[in-house]
Amino acid sequence: LKRCSRENLAENSKLFKEQEAWEEHQMGKAALKYGSENKNQISNNYQFVFEDQIDFIDPSVIDGDKFDLLEMESEKKTSKSASEILQDERKTLPIYAYRDELLQAVENHQVLVIIGETGSGKTTQVPQYLHEAGYTKRGKVGCTQPRRVAAMSVAARVSQEMGVKIGREVGYSIRFEDCTSEKTVVEYMTDGILLRNIISEPNLTSYSVIMVDEAHERTMSTDILLGLLKDLIKYRSDLKVLISSATLDAEKLSNYFDFAPIFKIPGRRYPVEEEIETTKEILNHRIRGLGGKIPELITCPIYANLPTELQTKIFEPTPEGVRKVVLATNIAETSLTIDGIKYVVDPGFVKVKSYNPSTGMESLLISPISRASANQRAGRSGRTGPGKCFRLYTLDSYQKEMDDNTVPEIQRTNLANVVLILKSLGIDDLVNFDFIDPPSTESLIKALELLFALGALNKFGELTKVGRRMAEFPLDPMLSKMIVASDKYRCSDEIITIAAMLSVGNSIFYRPKETQVHADNARMNFHLGNVGDHIALLRVYNSWRECDYSKQWCYDNYVQVRSMKRARNIRDQLERLLKKVEIEIASNVNDLNAIKKAITSGFFPHSARLQKDGSYLTVKHPQTARIHPSSGLAQVLPRPRWVVYNELVLTTKGYTRQVTELKPEWLVEIAPHYYQLKDVEDPASKKIPQVSRNSKC
Ligand code: CDP
Ligand code: MG
Repeated sequence: LKRCSRENLAENSKLFKEQEAWEEHQMGKAALKYGSENKNQISNNYQFVFEDQIDFIDPSVIDGDKFDLLEMESEKKTSKSASEILQDERKTLPIYAYRDELLQAVENHQVLVIIGETGSGKTTQVPQYLHEAGYTKRGKVGCTQPRRVAAMSVAARVSQEMGVKIGREVGYSIRFEDCTSEKTVVEYMTDGILLRNIISEPNLTSYSVIMVDEAHERTMSTDILLGLLKDLIKYRSDLKVLISSATLDAEKLSNYFDFAPIFKIPGRRYPVEEEIETTKEILNHRIRGLGGKIPELITCPIYANLPTELQTKIFEPTPEGVRKVVLATNIAETSLTIDGIKYVVDPGFVKVKSYNPSTGMESLLISPISRASANQRAGRSGRTGPGKCFRLYTLDSYQKEMDDNTVPEIQRTNLANVVLILKSLGIDDLVNFDFIDPPSTESLIKALELLFALGALNKFGELTKVGRRMAEFPLDPMLSKMIVASDKYRCSDEIITIAAMLSVGNSIFYRPKETQVHADNARMNFHLGNVGDHIALLRVYNSWRECDYSKQWCYDNYVQVRSMKRARNIRDQLERLLKKVEIEIASNVNDLNAIKKAITSGFFPHSARLQKDGSYLTVKHPQTARIHPSSGLAQVLPRPRWVVYNELVLTTKGYTRQVTELKPEWLVEIAPHYYQLKDVEDPASKKIPQVSRNSKC
């Protein structure tokens, strides 16, 4: 089997970025607009890597240039004939036949669950229908998307259909990017953004309708939003809540909203060839071919969009002497449990939703599964008797190529963020919050522990002044804490630059193949003195700023112009937020220790200690990791004894990215509740660092 491992994908993404940067360098924006098919494919993979890993900002799709393109697209399409074509196209969508019925149902019910095949027109049409029916006279129609790219591309599409410029009547808001105006009546946004907006607008008074789209994806933000909306509708009888979902989850969502009606949009725009149905055909054909030579074999497909009647078939008891084959997507991996399965055939792949930023369309990418998934799949057999699993891949791929599926770190971080938002909304009793599916108490406690350690909560679990300030920043709590702490070290100017540069992701530098040595030299210039990656990022930004944000400077230093523009944009917003939380902009560029201490104030839970073999052991959840080769500290000898890192990337090995050396005594000075002197003693004492956890909150 030819496998595309995550590292290959990551490699592709790197190549893509290099190639893109180079093309941009050579040809300007044109390269972006006329990307080849092949490039689209790579960018697709690239998306996958990011969607799959962390709440990254994807610079290739969320920067100013892309907006220009979107605007150009929407302007281009506003010529009369084009918009007429679009209007005709709208009428061919399956949802069109149900327009009036749907509007009637919205009128009659406060909450409605909407189900329909992908492509039937839910996302693009429902908000338009509501606008046409006059709902936007009472307030905006807001439609949430689990992904940023979807919010942007759908807004672009709908603005074309409505013949308006994007950002006017139809807009979108995603983190750090508000493409809406006073005129905006239809607003697409990420679920995370709506959650943040609730902090400043708890009753969502500016909205008449909230459509929670793709609710079946059940992102953390969507889940929390559903909980908050369920409460809010009690106070705002005029607010309409629409929830769009895949078939399988509709009932659960409906039950959660006190049995809200389910509106089904029948029909399919194009015939769907899902592999499952094809397999079923092939199997049935073979069975017929064998005539009466084998005992009866029942084939049952199961996938999210399958009509409910057919879904229940898999649970029906199998008559004596008959065998049943369940053909399933990964839905059967965890969401469903079918008793009596004896054999599992696991091809080792999964279809992962991914977005192609060039076309703005969603596609499913076939990707290798993780070891955890493989084990989960194997575990579906033998539940009620002995079973066997046939894996269609080698033991070697299983052991060496598959990822562990180590996501809890991410989940914990995200949960901390959400907990901070809920706390700032005054929701203190998280254990009794009406979650559709409550997170584990353990993960809630971990989030509370982290927020307590960062000083955002006091020992009673109440929001502190630090926490209140942190909640204003749309960042991971550790980054927010770093910013809030910079006040004390009088270096907020430097720290917001570092935060902005970190938020851009790992796409600051590029390395064209033919000039790799030059590119590496240019990059290492910023690392002189082994100052660490954070300070290097600061130097990059400051040098660029000194050169009046020049493009030429970027080309000369092998730095991506678009990433820098994005960093500048984020930095401007962080500067505004600093003012909002009344932190003075102070610069202390020559006191590197002060800057490093501010970084440590946010990232002390991400510290790691050098081991004898040259690797590092993280202290929070002891894990061996190496410094990522892209780090300025990767080659430095002697290796720093203690480091603080921005993130831990787990592929086949653990790597710490964006690393800075720290003095262990700072840990005790900055986080005495978290580290004790004995934890940071010299390795000669052979002690493994012990983290003192405070479990009071
Ligand atoms: O939400 P649902 O999957 O039901 O459909 P939709 O996203 O509203 O898409 C309806 C149709 O709009 C699609 O079949 C595409 O033809 C078109 N569309 C598009 O051209 N560009 C987008 N970004 C989104 C949708
Ligand atoms: Mg949709």
